[in-house]
Amino acid sequence: MCGIIGYTGPLAAKNVLLNGLSQLEYRGYDSAGIAFFGADQKVHVLKTVGKVARLRDLCAGIQEEIHCGIGHTRWATHGGVTAENAHPHQAGRVTMIHNGIIENYHQLTADFELEEKLISQTDTEVAARVLDALYDGDPLASLRRFQPLLKGSYSFCILFSDHPGEIYALRNVSPLVAAYTHSGSIVASDLTALIPYTKKYVVVPEDRVVKMTPYRMAFYDENGHEIQPEILEVNWDTDAAMKNGFPHFMLKEIHEQPDAMKNTILPRLTRGLPDFSEDGIPDQIFADCSQIRIVACGTAMHAGMVARAIMEPLLRIPVLVSVASEFRYEDPLVDSRTLAIVISQSGETIDTLAALRLSKKLGASVLSVVNVKGSTIARESDYVLYTHAGPEIAVASTKAYSVQLAALYMIICRMALVRGKMTEQDGCAFMSDLLDVIPAMESMIQRKEEIRQLVRPLVDKPDAFFIGRNLDYAFSLEGALKLKEISYIHADAYAAGELKHGTIALIADQVPVVALATQDRIFSKTISNVREVKARGAYVILIAKESAAVDEGLADVCIRIPDLHDRFTVFPIAVVLQLIAYYASLLKGLDVDQPRNLAKSVTVE
Ligand code: AGP
Repeated sequence: MCGIIGYTGPLAAKNVLLNGLSQLEYRGYDSAGIAFFGADQKVHVLKTVGKVARLRDLCAGIQEEIHCGIGHTRWATHGGVTAENAHPHQAGRVTMIHNGIIENYHQLTADFELEEKLISQTDTEVAARVLDALYDGDPLASLRRFQPLLKGSYSFCILFSDHPGEIYALRNVSPLVAAYTHSGSIVASDLTALIPYTKKYVVVPEDRVVKMTPYRMAFYDENGHEIQPEILEVNWDTDAAMKNGFPHFMLKEIHEQPDAMKNTILPRLTRGLPDFSEDGIPDQIFADCSQIRIVACGTAMHAGMVARAIMEPLLRIPVLVSVASEFRYEDPLVDSRTLAIVISQSGETIDTLAALRLSKKLGASVLSVVNVKGSTIARESDYVLYTHAGPEIAVASTKAYSVQLAALYMIICRMALVRGKMTEQDGCAFMSDLLDVIPAMESMIQRKEEIRQLVRPLVDKPDAFFIGRNLDYAFSLEGALKLKEISYIHADAYAAGELKHGTIALIADQVPVVALATQDRIFSKTISNVREVKARGAYVILIAKESAAVDEGLADVCIRIPDLHDRFTVFPIAVVLQLIAYYASLLKGLDVDQPRNLAKSVTVE
């Protein structure tokens, strides 16, 4: 939540900051602001409520050449969406932008007697005033005194008015990546803002201070000694973070799914079987565990729900899926024989990170499925299976979900082999079925116009219901989330058999019901539930396999997906459900990529 960027160097800083903020805008878009050293060597601040486009208009008046500045795009936590609460915040010689939450800001307000001085309602202004109170003209020494006073998560970029041309940055938990290039020094919340300038970067180590000048970037530990963080290289380019002719990132990312699947699966196949030796994941963790705990949030958690529905019956060990924000507080049964599988696209979701840390503390082995290389979750896990989706910019997760599933299916297969629940021949067949989903996904993407048409009856409805049994139920959870987060249609998913225990009371004339019936074993049971809602007037969109026998009149619309093994239908279904949500949002004229109240990475509790 919140995107931050800092740049000092020979380029026009106004452009670097504004372009960077546009890239980072998916992290929050309530308000935006920049601060910079002007030709007069003084710090100037411009900020506004609204999106980066509005900040860009505000900055149009800046005629002078700027070479050093910081920029922020906000997702409000403390304090409403107002210009006062927008970043940067200033106090004396300090100008600061912040991503995260300073949990002890009340205490700091009292300790430093700030109550009367505060202009905004933000924890960030408190932090800026504390730092100003500590500041003695030596930024590094002052930051060393400042950092131990803070509780919470943060990444900061700071200008000191008596140090023109310099930017200081530090972090705890909240992400921050930095690069020194021939075009100057740059730091930002994520790589999308850096890649137009370089492919080499460092993840700013936690509790370290970065000093940036146009000529150098240096990192200091808590004793003021310079350290050399590891230099990483990103393997995607600027195109990956651009729309490339698509009207929205979401549609582009839906189209990228087949390639993302190939990139995630193919490099890990040896003689047709999953092989994690290059990932450094030993078979031992699969052999030794007596239970699996999957923890994640949102879409990633839904991928875990699908995996669970296959894992437990196949592996015959308990598999539990927990919402990460609940797991932390439920005193979970985790021990040294637990394999914790942590799933996160961003690798920065704070609740998922906390669940990971708790699992480790309780003795579990932690295997994470992460998309962003070098992210905090990836670095803190015992083992990482990276998904190779490339950057996912749209707030609504699409390709990350598919590749999370692909990675989880590979884990399932490897584990079944290691535990003697599959022969090599079964394993090869399983992986071959997994590869077959790629053309199936492609075929559904090609049918997007058909899906656009059938979405029309949904868009003026306040509610929609998604139903399915077993795996179909797990898939429908994601369909409902997708629809509600970008179309604002209230949508919920129900196990189809559970409907008549209460929810069916909500089914009335023309209420949309998206029914998933792709599991051969229980097809007729689901169809009975479809009849029940149809009998009460529902507008039914049925998703079934090509060969499934569907009676005339059972559904208002029937979307056929290719005939795949039951376990694998999720992949084409995911495409259909994503397209339903996409077109519902589009037809309602909403902001598809940046829906209200949301941000891409949830880095606050
Ligand atoms: C779904 O479309 C959302 N973007 C959201 O539910 C997301 O999946 C969740 O916040 C988890 O994010 P992560 O994968 O980056 O941890």
